[in-house]
Amino acid sequence: MRPPERFETERLVLRMPCMTDAEAIFAGYATDPEVTRYMTWRPHESIEDTRAFLEIAIADWSGDRSFGYAITMRGADECLGMVGLNLGDYNAEVGYVLAREYWCQGIVTEAAQALVEWAMAQPTIYRVWAICDVDNPASARVMEKVGMEREGILRRRIMHPNVSDEPRDCLCYSIVK
Ligand SMILES: CC(C)(COP(=O)(O)OP(=O)(O)OC[C@H]1O[C@@H](n2cnc3c(N)ncnc32)[C@H](O)[C@@H]1OP(=O)(O)O)[C@@H](O)C(=O)NCCC(=O)NCCS
Repeated sequence: MRPPERFETERLVLRMPCMTDAEAIFAGYATDPEVTRYMTWRPHESIEDTRAFLEIAIADWSGDRSFGYAITMRGADECLGMVGLNLGDYNAEVGYVLAREYWCQGIVTEAAQALVEWAMAQPTIYRVWAICDVDNPASARVMEKVGMEREGILRRRIMHPNVSDEPRDCLCYSIVK
């Protein structure tokens, strides 16, 4: 199963990432400690870090598990953030990040909604889910706004190296059919 290479929503185009996104990602959010605080990776120190990330994200599209999309506004191709799907057995996990300049405009909710709708429309996907750090309420709110319900806390589930060198408790949200 493979999701579409492109989604169009009211305001956004979600498209496959490309190497020329490196500058926008590096300058826009990958070095920002506020943006990266609850991510699983450390802020990028040079654009080579961003290029290495993009090489993996692009290569992932040749596989059958991880599909990341550049978030762009309609009519402007600049990558403002990314939203992604990780396909598992009978389920899909959603993840996202956005440059701080664009926060609180409903952008990630709109982007994630498109992925959730696609995933829930697949006959073999029964569960769409996401996790976030217990101290990341903006991310939890996105999960609620795309229709997910809070399942509980996964204790010591994931490493967020910008917050702690020990695994963090995470909120787990899902939508099922
Ligand atoms: C989480 C993130 C992707 C949200 O993107 P966004 O486009 O700003 O999200 P939206 O505008 O669609 O929705 C954000 C919601 O969170 C709310 N919110 C923002 N900051 C908040 C805070 N500190 N506490 C509680 N709610 C908060 C907003 O008010 C909004 O809810 P509302 O529409 O009910 O008012 C963005 O903040 C981000 O990139 N954060 C850093 C990366 C990250 O943490 N990614 C998720 C990892 S699990």
